[in-house]
Amino acid sequence: MDMQSVINLDQMRELARRRLPRIAFDFIDGGVDDEHCLQRNRAAFMQYRLVPRYLRDVGERDQSVRLLGRTYASPIGISPTGLAGLWRADADLMQARAARQADVPFLLSSASNGALEDIAAAAPGHVWFQMYCTSDERINADLVSRARQAGVGVLVVSVDVPVNANRERNRRNGFSRPFRMTPGVAMDALMHPAWVLRYLRTGGMPMMRNWQPYARQGASASQVADLYGTLTPAPRIDWDNLRRIRAGWDGPLAIKGILHPADAMQAMQLGADALVVSNHGGRQLDAAPAPLEMLPAIRQAVGERVELILDSGVRRGSDVVIARCLGARSCLFGRPPVFAVAAGAQAGVARVLQILRNEIDMVLAQIGCPRFEALDPSYLWPAGGHPAISR
Ligand code: FNR
Repeated sequence: MDMQSVINLDQMRELARRRLPRIAFDFIDGGVDDEHCLQRNRAAFMQYRLVPRYLRDVGERDQSVRLLGRTYASPIGISPTGLAGLWRADADLMQARAARQADVPFLLSSASNGALEDIAAAAPGHVWFQMYCTSDERINADLVSRARQAGVGVLVVSVDVPVNANRERNRRNGFSRPFRMTPGVAMDALMHPAWVLRYLRTGGMPMMRNWQPYARQGASASQVADLYGTLTPAPRIDWDNLRRIRAGWDGPLAIKGILHPADAMQAMQLGADALVVSNHGGRQLDAAPAPLEMLPAIRQAVGERVELILDSGVRRGSDVVIARCLGARSCLFGRPPVFAVAAGAQAGVARVLQILRNEIDMVLAQIGCPRFEALDPSYLWPAGGHPAISR
C-alpha cells in the first residue's frame, strides 16, 4: 500500500494490526494490568480545548524548535522502542533515516537490534541514545563511552522500569521468554504468512547488537537476549548511579520517565538538561497519572532551568500544541513509528512524521499562532473548567 495514502496515525495502527501476528501487535499496542493508564494518556488531552484567535496573519508558519542546543524542523521525535527488529529487519535503521530526513530526533533504545555505532553513523546529528542503568557499572560506563565515540548528541537515561510490568496481553498470548510454541502461537503465525516468511528469510530472531560485546564469543541471539534479561531491569539502581552517569558524560543528558515534581527537581539538581515526562506509554504502572496531568506541576517545580519533553499518548498535532501550551518544549511518540515501520518500512515512518507535522501546521494556523515557540497557556481552555485565558 502507498504510505502517502495513509490519513492518520490510527489508520497506520490498523495497517500494522493486519500485517502482524496478534502476539506481535499486542506486544506493541498493549499496556499494563487493565490498561487504564493507556486510556488516561489519551483522555488527558481531551481535557483541554484550544481557543482560536482570528484576524492574525498566519500566511507563514514556523514549527521549528530549539532543543538541547540545536534547532529541529518539528517539535516531535521518535521515542525509544526496544526489539523493533522483531517487527521488521533493520527497523532501527529505517526509523533513524526517516528522522534524519524529517530533521527530528530519533531516540535509539539500548534494547534495539541495530548497533548504536551503525545507527548513529546512519543519521548524524539526529540520534539520541537511550539506556537503562544495568546492575553492572562497568557496562553502564562502557555504553556511555560507546555513545560518545559514536558521536551521539544526547544521552537519555530511562528510570521508569525498576521491575518488569504485568502486561496481561503478553501473558495471554504466550509472549514469553523462553519462547514457547503453543498451538495458539502457531495458528496466529499461520494467519500472517507474509510476516512469518519475511521473518524467517531475514534470519529469524534478531540479535540485540548493543549487548553482543558483553556476551561470550559466538553467543546466539537468544543467549544475548538472556544476558540482557539478567542485567536489566535492575531494581537496586538509585540516584547515585545516575550521578555516575552524569559524571561520565559531558554532553546533554535527558532523564526519561519522570512524573513526580520532586523527582524532576532532584534530576535537575543532579545536572539533567532535559526531562522526558512520560509513563512509558502506560506500560509500567496502571495507576500512574498521564504525563500531561503532571506537566504544569513539573514546569512550576523546575522553572525554565530544564527542558521538558512530553511523551505518552501523543497521536495528533493538537496534542503537541496543547503540551507546548502547558510547558513542554516538544513531544515524543512511540507506538505510531513502530506500527509504521511494520506496515511500511522507512516510508511508513516518514509518513507518520509528515502527518504530525502537517497537523501541527494546520492547528497553528487555525488558532492564529504562526510560531510554535510562541504558544502559551492563553490558547487553552480547560474542558468545563475555570478559564485559563489571560489575554
Ligand atoms: C517502549 N518504550 C521504551 N522506552 C524506553 O525508554 N526504552 C525502551 O527500550 C522502550 N521500549 C519500548 C517498546 C515498545 C514496543 C513500546 C510500545 C514502548 C516506551 C516508549 O519509549 C515511549 O515512552 C512510549 O511508547 C510512549 O507512549 P506512546 O507514544 O506509545 O503512547
